[in-house]
Amino acid sequence: MPTIQKLGVLTGGGDAPGLNAVIRAVVKTASNAGVTVIGLEDSFDGLIYPEKSRVLTPKDVTGILRLGGTMLGTVNRGDPFAEPIQTPQGTFDYGDRVMHMFQEMKLDALICIGGDGTLGISYEFYKKGIPLVGVPKTIDNDIYGTTSCFGFDTAVSFATDAIDRLHTTAEAHRRIIVVEVMGRYAGWIALHAGVAGGADVILIPEIPYDFDKVVECLRRRDERGARFSIVVVAEGARPKDGNVSILEEAHPGYAERLGGAAKFCADELGKLAGKETRYVVLGHLQRGGAPTAFDRTLATRFGGKAVELVLRGQFGKMVANHPPELVPIPLGEVVGRTKLVPLDYDLLQTARMMGVSFGD
Ligand code: F6P
Repeated sequence: MPTIQKLGVLTGGGDAPGLNAVIRAVVKTASNAGVTVIGLEDSFDGLIYPEKSRVLTPKDVTGILRLGGTMLGTVNRGDPFAEPIQTPQGTFDYGDRVMHMFQEMKLDALICIGGDGTLGISYEFYKKGIPLVGVPKTIDNDIYGTTSCFGFDTAVSFATDAIDRLHTTAEAHRRIIVVEVMGRYAGWIALHAGVAGGADVILIPEIPYDFDKVVECLRRRDERGARFSIVVVAEGARPKDGNVSILEEAHPGYAERLGGAAKFCADELGKLAGKETRYVVLGHLQRGGAPTAFDRTLATRFGGKAVELVLRGQFGKMVANHPPELVPIPLGEVVGRTKLVPLDYDLLQTARMMGVSFGD
């Protein structure tokens, strides 16, 4: 077993409610085991710029359990290996600089909390020789190998509340309201919030939709006397024979930014169904605010388990939720893969049997 005296912790990629709860669990459990924790700011920038790191004691993490965001800051800038890094100390190759600073700071291990991008970067550094453990984070719930990620439950709860509110105004005006939720290329948020909010139509990336089928469903509702409808559309959903709606094209080192699915759907459905239609984009509201109790608990479990793996020398692993246990799985099995909604998922099947349309 390695002797761990100094442990670095960082958060990378888009934020998700529960990041602070993981940091808190890491700091408290490691400190209680006699390990000094160094908080690295703005993801791996904490290993690039000397001023972006600091010791974290249990006192520093008091009161952060219930806070959204991340006390360490984060960056979501795509491929950091793409270009050299300019620092007041000079210009460096990104990978070399991180490796050098890891030694210079006398760190024994890292805990990297992030989504697929950050876990991919972490895996590169693990292969270069940094002993590290990954913690999966995303509201999208699309990380391969874990049944759930913290942040997802909070996002789904928020979206469900929004759908509840939209029901009353849609009904009052007899409108179709289209609600766009996040999730990138996976439909987890749309499916869960759509079912929890009682949506009539749920459009997810895994099932390219047909406008005629959606309109058919809306007409059936009208015939039954329900003169309003709620359509939940995942940002990554697309019509069959059509493309995903994007706000910004991919450019070197940066992924495409999704968005516009709700406006696109609302415009088409308004015309085809001949009904007044409105749309709402929930956007980053889904990532903000306090984590739910479920996310706080999961995040705390992930943080504690990550420290346990570090102390046992189980590096190159990601903590994964396999209820009722947390298990370590090799990072190499996780990176570059996306966990999509399986078409035989019981929630999807039940929703179908209850009459929810998926536009197919
Ligand atoms: O991966 C989380 C997520 O919120 C996605 O659902 C969304 O597409 C993306 O991040 C938005 O990223 P940004 O914060 O860079 O706009």
